[in-house]
Amino acid sequence: MDFTLSEQQTMFRDMVRDFAAREIAPLAAQMDREADMPEALIQKLREGGFFGLTFPEPLGGLGVDTTTYGLVVEELSAASAGVAVMICVHNSVGSYPIAMFGSDELKARVLPRMAAGEIAAFCVSEAGAGSDAAALTTAAARDGDHYVLTGSKMWVTNGSRARYYVVLARTPGSVGHDSVHAFLVERDAPGLCVAKKEDKMGLRCSDTCVVELDGVRIPAANLLGREGDGFKVAMKALDGGRIGIAFQALGIGRACLEASVRYAGQRIAFGEKLWHIPTVRDKFADMAARLHAARLTALHAAWLKDQGRPHTKEAAMAKLLATEAAGHVADEAIQIHGGFGYTKDYDVERYYRDVRVTRIYEGTSEIQRLVIARSVIKELG
Ligand code: CAA
Repeated sequence: MDFTLSEQQTMFRDMVRDFAAREIAPLAAQMDREADMPEALIQKLREGGFFGLTFPEPLGGLGVDTTTYGLVVEELSAASAGVAVMICVHNSVGSYPIAMFGSDELKARVLPRMAAGEIAAFCVSEAGAGSDAAALTTAAARDGDHYVLTGSKMWVTNGSRARYYVVLARTPGSVGHDSVHAFLVERDAPGLCVAKKEDKMGLRCSDTCVVELDGVRIPAANLLGREGDGFKVAMKALDGGRIGIAFQALGIGRACLEASVRYAGQRIAFGEKLWHIPTVRDKFADMAARLHAARLTALHAAWLKDQGRPHTKEAAMAKLLATEAAGHVADEAIQIHGGFGYTKDYDVERYYRDVRVTRIYEGTSEIQRLVIARSVIKELG
């Protein structure tokens, strides 16, 4: 067993750490306050290749492996988790369904544009279909060489910035997983409308939207996979997506630990630095150990994916452990900062809000446990 990162992985991580410290971290508090992201920053991310991370080199991407992708997501997240989720969704659930299930023509036309920074989004959830993704009701009616999509999607990350949407919809009036289909829908399709941008607790610079589809006609060639494959397309995309969210949580958690150690090195109580107070030291130990255990699990899930091996259970474990560890670490970071941590003068206040959603989106902790338990019963039952 070799735990050493390759020279290329280390180089990538260090370059992104430097970029994030220079270009993203100084803007993070302002982006959070304004609930927006400057176009100039998005352009720098384009120029840095962040939108093409997981895309093959011949299509204009960087073709990095999942481990490198995870390390990049962690670095971005330590600076701004809102920026990180835009990159995550684009490089995983927003593009993977096209890369894996799109026709050759669709891939050749769309993937180079995505790699260059035309942003992608993933539309599965609806007001009545969150954890129970198969309950979605958006209709896809076949009409000759087209499908006509009608429905309303919620919690669409990149909703207002996207040029491309992967949309899950079903044969009207049908039930069951086999009547769900996946499609690529382009922003300029008549009838597609970004109806609302959510006013969120955290990740405020990322845009999370309601996307309405009102009789949107799309060519049948935009079907991803075959009719009825849609649910499995979404689940496979989420397997990879969840590894990214695990690394996102690890990045926020690491930022919390670093900020806490820095603060405790300056803060004097009972005549000494907090560093020397046993209860604070215990917190550091616990925070670091939890993050380390979760990071190893996430790296293992990424490695499995890169080996082309099954990773549904391990991705769910990585997301569960990393997001719960980071949630705990963010809570302890506030505790170490005391009243100061409860104010917007300190970054840990933002980290605490940002990390909360990682236990909700791309499958709640409860759903990760369900996925893990089903696998365990299948293996051992
Ligand atoms: N890979 C491949 N196939 C899979 C699969 C996977 N990971 N998971 C399930 N399937 C297959 C099953 O094998 C089954 O196939 P057969 O019918 O051929 O046997 C079929 O899909 C149905 O599977 P289940 O019976 O397990 O389906 P279910 O209805 O019980 O749901 C679930 C399973 C795990 C709960 C699923 O609904 C789920 O993951 N829910 C959470 C959804 C989610 O993560 N939403 C987040 C959306 S994105 C977001 O957050 C916003 C954003 O922009 C970031």
